[in-house]
Amino acid sequence: MKEKLEALREKALKELEGLDSLQKLRDFQVRYLGRKGELKTLLKSMGKLPSEERPLVGQLANRIKDFIEEAIADRERVLRAREEERRLEAERIDVTLPGRGPELGGVHPLTRVLREMEEVFISMGFQVAQGPEIETDYYNFEALNIPPNHPARDMQDTFYIEGGLLLRTHTSPVQIRVMERFRPPIRIIAPGKVYRRDADVSHTPMFHQVEGLLVDEVTTFADLKGVLEEFALRLFGPRTRVRFRPSYFPFTEPSAEMDIGCVMCEGEGCRVCKGSGWLEILGCGMVDPAVYSFVDYDPEAYRGFAFGLGVERIAMLKYRIDDIRLFFENDLRFLRQFL
Ligand code: DAH
Repeated sequence: MKEKLEALREKALKELEGLDSLQKLRDFQVRYLGRKGELKTLLKSMGKLPSEERPLVGQLANRIKDFIEEAIADRERVLRAREEERRLEAERIDVTLPGRGPELGGVHPLTRVLREMEEVFISMGFQVAQGPEIETDYYNFEALNIPPNHPARDMQDTFYIEGGLLLRTHTSPVQIRVMERFRPPIRIIAPGKVYRRDADVSHTPMFHQVEGLLVDEVTTFADLKGVLEEFALRLFGPRTRVRFRPSYFPFTEPSAEMDIGCVMCEGEGCRVCKGSGWLEILGCGMVDPAVYSFVDYDPEAYRGFAFGLGVERIAMLKYRIDDIRLFFENDLRFLRQFL
């Protein structure tokens, strides 16, 4: 019996050394000292011993139990220390690393281009006007001489809202709202958001336009060309070339589109200008007398010109950005380039 107890102690000690986790230590404790553990099992056979040997064996068993318990406690201390060390290593902070400085915000590239445009027109005597983004059919189409079956009214382009309202598809309705409230001379630009059902690399359902309107007693197409050429030179640099091509808009007559020499190839012809050497940047024209009749202006007394341009398109050309969606994804790697 004595030998068996000693052997148990040796076995336990050996096994203990190999235990490398607190969980295994707990299992070990149960296995040796638990109610159905090895020690208890061994002691059960004590009943067969002669009665004079029993106290001695009992004492020895108790000592072995204490011994194993102590050994377990030692082992537990070692394992706990090791675990703590591992945790500290994992959570280690290098206090000599430089701190993260505060991040500086910046102006969004679209806001930047918009401000630049406003500055150019304000310096030429224009004032900034605004109008609602939710419009009526009257202001967005009818008063701009866009007849009921004009393609611009197509469900494909316009976001219609309940109650006969719609999201403005261009900033041109601001022309009407301004002329309703003021008499010439009028010189305004109207920057703002516009909406169309369209989405690809060069179209987003919301984008920005700047509308321009000048009405006075004597205004000519030469004035229009002068103002818009000056605008192009200021925005794209003094070497920029411009040209006007005849075009059509229901609210201007005659109408034109203005091109600038391609910013990528400077007129050589490339992928961006589709080989033409020119890029269209805006629509314009002399205000159609039909529009004056909607705002009670005497078409004999006044002449005016109007223009409209897309802010995203100008920003894309200016900064050579090839995907309009970059403006709205708010990827800091993109935005940081404009700080
Ligand atoms: N509203 C036109 C559009 O969204 C742009 C435009 C063209 C505005 C000619 C004008 C203009 O004021 O005269 O396509």
